[in-house]
Amino acid sequence: MDPAFVFDFRPTDDPSAESGQRWSTWASVEPLCRGPEPRPDWLVTDHAAVDTDLGVLKTGKEADVFLLERAVPGGASVVMAAKRYRGEETRAFHRSAAYTEGRRTRNSRDTRAMAKKTAHGRAVAAGQWAWAEWEVLGRLWSMGLPVPYPVQLDGTEILMEFIGSEGVAAPRLAQARPEREVLVSWFEQLREAMATMVQHGIVHGDLSPYNILADGDRLVIIDLPQAVDLVGNPLGMDFLLRDCANVCDWFRRRGLSAELADEHALYGDLLATAF
Ligand SMILES: Nc1ncnc2c1ncn2[C@@H]1O[C@H](COP(=O)(O)OP(=O)(O)OP(=O)(O)O)[C@@H](O)[C@H]1O
Ligand SMILES: [Mg+2]
Repeated sequence: MDPAFVFDFRPTDDPSAESGQRWSTWASVEPLCRGPEPRPDWLVTDHAAVDTDLGVLKTGKEADVFLLERAVPGGASVVMAAKRYRGEETRAFHRSAAYTEGRRTRNSRDTRAMAKKTAHGRAVAAGQWAWAEWEVLGRLWSMGLPVPYPVQLDGTEILMEFIGSEGVAAPRLAQARPEREVLVSWFEQLREAMATMVQHGIVHGDLSPYNILADGDRLVIIDLPQAVDLVGNPLGMDFLLRDCANVCDWFRRRGLSAELADEHALYGDLLATAF
């Protein structure tokens, strides 16, 4: 058959927006906007897959996180987290300019629009935060760090591995009350993850018990759009110390000794491994 006449067949009962469905967007995003290799075996990349919105997981200050199922009718399926940055609404971004120092925009129209906070400017900013988080997630995942696998980026929407089970999200560290043994193990996990990040010159910048999920015995770090360069950003060291303070504070409140959960000791250790 002449290949010019071969086209993707799609059944006529198209998924409809009203029912919270769409065709899988996997095939339509650029290669750079698909997750790093090796890809996990749970990924659904079939062109015939349908995405179904299962509802809001959490609304945040600048993004909302939804549960999304990607399924091949009668075949493989996976539930993922869809983080959608808000752009069009009149909503101030709380992350300050200190995080974005040195970030470039494509053209001066975008820069002016962002400064004036026009609708277009907010959309550009939302896209930049999404891109920034996407890029960091991919780097950290490739380093073997405990972050959700970044599946794809489509404009202001990041699809990522859902942390939790049976559609129930893993609790945030803030809600967890672990046994002492687990507490010690979690502190070590975080120290190790932070050390690897610092060795690669990356600081989370908003690390807190709200941006760490307790997935059973394992901690998973999330919410990374504001991650900064340890040395490239003039406040990189300050952000690192603040991350250390937030983390140590939580561990002390849960009963870890002040010697173990000492932010200055942690900060010193991390910097010692970096330089
Ligand atoms: N991959 C994920 N798996 C499971 N739950 C997630 C995932 N990503 C985010 N969440 C849930 O959604 C919440 C908000 O996500 P995140 O912190 O990335 O967004 P945010 O808009 O910055 O939120 P906030 O303003 O509350 O900090 C998280 O605290 C967590 O409960
Ligand atoms: Mg958060």
